[in-house]
Amino acid sequence: MPAFTATAPAKIILFGEHAVVYGRPAIAVPVTALQARAIVRPELRAPHGQVRLLAEAIGLDALMKDLNPDHPLRRVVELTAQELGAAYLPACQITIQSTIPVASGLGSGAAVSVAVIRALAAYLGKSLADEVVSTLAYEVEKIYHGTPSGVDNTVIALRRAVYFVRGQAIQPLRVGRPFRLLIADSGISSPTATTVAEVRAGWQQNPADYEDLFDQIGAIVQQARLLIEKGQPEQLGDLMNRNQSLLEKLGVSSPELERLIATARQAGALGAKLSGGGRGGNIIALVDERSAPGVAASLSEAGARGVILTTVQ
Ligand code: PMV
Repeated sequence: MPAFTATAPAKIILFGEHAVVYGRPAIAVPVTALQARAIVRPELRAPHGQVRLLAEAIGLDALMKDLNPDHPLRRVVELTAQELGAAYLPACQITIQSTIPVASGLGSGAAVSVAVIRALAAYLGKSLADEVVSTLAYEVEKIYHGTPSGVDNTVIALRRAVYFVRGQAIQPLRVGRPFRLLIADSGISSPTATTVAEVRAGWQQNPADYEDLFDQIGAIVQQARLLIEKGQPEQLGDLMNRNQSLLEKLGVSSPELERLIATARQAGALGAKLSGGGRGGNIIALVDERSAPGVAASLSEAGARGVILTTVQ
């Protein structure tokens, strides 16, 4: 029997993280150099409905029925089967592999969900629209984050740059001219739920100041959208630096991230900022063909755990 495989890319947020939870726009792009993969293999001898889940990276080898009902992998399989009208899945084994680091703002959870959804749909001989894949993955994101904006599942299901506003229809973003980014991992694992909760506590204490910061971030995202569409990406650097200052005011940056950001700027990046939930995880730096190797080398020397060059197109 054949196996049914699907992959999903990582993602980064270019502009607008945190403010996006409060209704402001964000821009996110897929990162295809990193992938989650799900492989569904029929198990002809197993009882009907039996699903075995294997994910070596997290030491998982279990029957789905033995997992907690809130386990993200159990949830995603059950939701997908329900969406596809399969009361019982024909017995199978689902193997998950991923090169996306976890808890570092690269959307690893959403990518695993999207890969599993698409591989299961293929197994059942069906296909699902991107919007449906995104909605199913969003349900699972809630287990990881509590109050996710939905940006991760959207950009990963669409596999294209998006201009995202919570609760609105998916808006793909036309990239007028491709541009390069370096993604550098601080090596500090920082769950998004923690910084999202801290921003919420700050907003509850001081709504006027936080709303003002969110508005300023929203205005930057609008300007960035125009520059990306018009094909003037070199001007995004200044906007990235301004977005970073506002994230620092929100309290989601950290000395380690700021050291990497300063290193990138000094080495010739046109701009740099943290990406995603913050505190740890990744920074992104805008580079061109000429500056990319030097900036990448400086970031590695400054202690970045991994540096990835990606092209936004
Ligand atoms: O840490 P990430 O990349 O998964 O993104 C978090 C983005 C936030 O805006 C902080 C939260 C959200 O749900 O959008």
